[in-house]
Amino acid sequence: MQDDSGLQKLLRVPLIYDLFQEIVGGNAARRVFIRDIVRAKPGDKLIDVGCGPAKMVEWLPSVRYVGIDASERYIESARIKYGDKGLFLVGDTRTLGNDERLGDADIVLCSALLHHLNDDEALDLMRFAHRALKPNGRLITGDPCWLPDQGFISRWVVSMDRGKNVRTEEGYRKLAELVFKNVKTIVLPNSLRIPTPGVAMECAK
Ligand SMILES: C[S@@+](CC[C@H](N)C(=O)[O-])C[C@H]1O[C@@H](n2cnc3c(N)ncnc32)[C@H](O)[C@@H]1O
Repeated sequence: MQDDSGLQKLLRVPLIYDLFQEIVGGNAARRVFIRDIVRAKPGDKLIDVGCGPAKMVEWLPSVRYVGIDASERYIESARIKYGDKGLFLVGDTRTLGNDERLGDADIVLCSALLHHLNDDEALDLMRFAHRALKPNGRLITGDPCWLPDQGFISRWVVSMDRGKNVRTEEGYRKLAELVFKNVKTIVLPNSLRIPTPGVAMECAK
């Protein structure tokens, strides 16, 4: 579920989303996330679910990239900017669940997606990723989180997010463990310029 007011509405414009991420440090944090946690290799097949305007393409090695997003506007922008570097599809894991192009993946990436999904939708995503991955493939996620001793400002910043399903580290992990056998979580206490703690997950089949 998404908030529909003010800044939230503006962020649907791909250029403004990118500018916002640059200002708050989201792009810098994503570069580190790609390097240290995603760790894609050239030639890997990577499915980026909830890819947004697909900025990730700029920081990945030469992978076989498939980007999926529910927003036509973001996918249109991604096709214009990175059309020669991947395949971009409008839809979600339900509407595209049987698409043959979404299989045999080394990595399924969900950057800042899970906190937009309720538990049923998140479970669908886990099942989709499990089906789409090769036997040794990995699902990688990264989202804002709630912490036990979180300060007031940090709680407020997280509560202003467009995604209304922010969870605790345990909340994200329990969802993934319903489908994946091997789930590792990493809490990133302050990954942006504004106080926003995050949780990354690495889930292997
Ligand atoms: C916060 S943005 C993250 C974009 C990008 N992954 C990034 O890290 O900058 C969340 C994205 O998820 C997309 N989205 C939300 N629900 C979705 C769903 N059920 N299936 C696919 N995309 C979805 C939104 O349109 C939005 O582009």
